[in-house]
Amino acid sequence: MGLVTTEQMFKKSLCSDYAVGAFNVNNMEIIQGIVEAAKEEEAPLILQVSAGARKYANPIYLKKLVEAAIEDTGLDMALHLDHGEDFDICKQCVDGGFSSVMVDGSKHPFEENVALTKQVVDYAHERGVVVEAELGKLAGIEDNINVDAREATFTDPEQAKEFVERTGVDSLAVAIGTSHGAYKFKGEPRLDFERLKEIHALIPDVPLVLHGASTVIPEFVDKCNEYGGEIPGARGVPEDMITEAVKHGVCKVNIDTDLRLAMTAEIRKFMVENPAEFDPRKYLGPARSAIKQMVKHKIKDVLKASGKR
Ligand code: G3H
Ligand code: 13P
Ligand code: ZN
Repeated sequence: MGLVTTEQMFKKSLCSDYAVGAFNVNNMEIIQGIVEAAKEEEAPLILQVSAGARKYANPIYLKKLVEAAIEDTGLDMALHLDHGEDFDICKQCVDGGFSSVMVDGSKHPFEENVALTKQVVDYAHERGVVVEAELGKLAGIEDNINVDAREATFTDPEQAKEFVERTGVDSLAVAIGTSHGAYKFKGEPRLDFERLKEIHALIPDVPLVLHGASTVIPEFVDKCNEYGGEIPGARGVPEDMITEAVKHGVCKVNIDTDLRLAMTAEIRKFMVENPAEFDPRKYLGPARSAIKQMVKHKIKDVLKASGKR
């Protein structure tokens, strides 16, 4: 109890139509907002830390904050490394007490991705830690490639089957049209649900992971724009597409951009409306509340994970 792996969470999610939210954390207020939301919604929870977050906050602070959150709330949660790019960072997180790591070998050719993933799986499993890997590439709108080329980077279902069989990985991130950041689609948003269904049919016991799953909530984009510099052309994955994806084997949905937008919108508004104020608690407090409300909405209305703890 307390810090747990994703094994039981995914087992339950896989045979039901909901997914576990995996939220990126960088500081205390973000962690508190997310954890309070999960507690009120009685939802399973994954807190994830990127290499950038480790560099920003120093891993020990994030680890201790998550321990504090567990002690304070009594919630079970997983602490996960997001996008570990090599064996070394995955090993550091396994040794440092994470319960789950992602090894992201998606930029490598297939055989190299298999070898790297297998190396991390062998090390992590011996120590009771679970592993997520990625096959296929998440193309961003900024990659400026046409639709055919974009789809060529999507996850190949047969390869996905071979990949999980050869690596023994616990969950698999797939590329079906989502991408990281606030600018996900040039035209109409579109996800390749046929591909997702095919992957799920071939590896029905493997929990699938959707990266780049922020919906880029218009309310926050508008607020950011109203109270400061322009965030032009932001466009996320429509909420109903995420809800549809969780019906086809997606057990983990990654959200970072929506946290950033919720927080920034609140802080920008505060700064404009209170130019004489300089107590950080005055703006970090409302930012934390905005994160909490947004995460509650995700858990309840998009991921359908309320009460699934
Ligand atoms: O997938 C990437 C996450 O949004 C983390 O972003 O590397 O800037 O911390 P970051
Ligand atoms: P977003 O940028 O859509 O929030 O995706 C986050 C993510 O995939 C973290 O791994
Ligand atoms: Zn990601």
